[in-house]
Amino acid sequence: MRIILGVSGSVAAYRACDLARELMRQGHQVRVCLTDSAQNFVTPALFEALTGQPCLVDTFDEPDRGRMAHIDWARAADLVLVAPATANTLAKLAHGVADDMLTTLAVASQAPLMVVPAMNPTMYSSPGVLQARGILMDRGAEWLEPSTGDVACGENGQGKFPPIEVIVHEVQEVLSRSNQLAGQTVLISSGPTQEPIDIARYLTNRSSGKMGAALARAALRMGARVIVVAGPQRARLPVEAEIIPVQTAIEMRDRMVEMAPGADWIVGVAAVADYRPASPSLGKIRRSSEPLQLELLPNPDVLAEAVAAARPGTRAIGFAAEVGDDPEVIAGKLERKNLSAIAINDVAGAETGFESETNQITLQFRDGERIASEKMSKSALARWLFEQALSRS
Ligand code: PMT
Repeated sequence: MRIILGVSGSVAAYRACDLARELMRQGHQVRVCLTDSAQNFVTPALFEALTGQPCLVDTFDEPDRGRMAHIDWARAADLVLVAPATANTLAKLAHGVADDMLTTLAVASQAPLMVVPAMNPTMYSSPGVLQARGILMDRGAEWLEPSTGDVACGENGQGKFPPIEVIVHEVQEVLSRSNQLAGQTVLISSGPTQEPIDIARYLTNRSSGKMGAALARAALRMGARVIVVAGPQRARLPVEAEIIPVQTAIEMRDRMVEMAPGADWIVGVAAVADYRPASPSLGKIRRSSEPLQLELLPNPDVLAEAVAAARPGTRAIGFAAEVGDDPEVIAGKLERKNLSAIAINDVAGAETGFESETNQITLQFRDGERIASEKMSKSALARWLFEQALSRS
């Protein structure tokens, strides 16, 4: 595949050399375009030597005389990858500014756009960058979150260029869109639920919705129509998905049951609160020195009710947030919810469960067969899960 690698002026620009080489090792043709400020860190000659292709900087660069490179390259590209992407370049991409070769190429290309921001953590959480993030993601761009750790300026936080293998994996995911789920509807429950105690407080849990968002993205990339019934989650869902926002378990149950008859797949990844306050106060409960007792009622089993409302033949996959792995508990969940398979998720593991970027699951099927995944990004895991389930149909 043909990738335009746009490099902007971050200290991480030097990492784009390894990125270009690794993408070439995967069989891609890589053409590099630098912004002016990237040249403070790396040079066109370096990328030309690494890729064997001309490297563009100026809007009017024309390696083939008489052919407008910004149109030629843009038309031929299968992916425009901007890595590292600075706050300045992100803002320009978000607003359609085309005042240098890189941003002009991005505007002129119909290929998918992937950005890999890398900058100081305070800059990364600034309103302008967050706004650019919202605009670009709403437009369907792939936004790879930077890693958290020590950055070049000495601060610690989110802003580090992610490991090369993570970027290459995401690129492969975007370029390997398939139609394995074409014509199928995938219904996903995602995120936490919030169960009101009074008008100011609620019971909830740590689910960020990252796993749900990854499953939605994977199913879309495999050609499915995707509906997500989403609790109040932090992770952004892809705009191509139909999103039904809910707050409580009862609302989630109602919407899942309503949508289930039209689904070919139901995936329950939401961390539904098992209990809700019996009589939430309409006002604000006052502080007192006396102990406060809350009576809790069990919530409905959202997934079990959705599966019961679905057509025969609908594939249903649940997630089981477990500490350890008790075969009887797992068999009980599979049976009670009438699932085709359950993904056992050890949420006590390192970086495997709530809020983490990575995850690891063991998928258990109805006949007792089990297959364990590697620990990988939630995005890779989501693809793995659908592929495993499809290979058993
Ligand atoms: O959102 P992240 O931060 O990315 O974290 C991901 C995750 C850890 C939340 C996810 O990977 C996960 O494990 N989700 C399942 C959480 C859970 O509620 O597990 P459970 O074992 O309690 O429930 C089993 C299944 O029944 C789940 O599919 C759950 O959605 C469903 N359920 C549970 C209770 C209930 N009242 N209704 C349900 O539908």
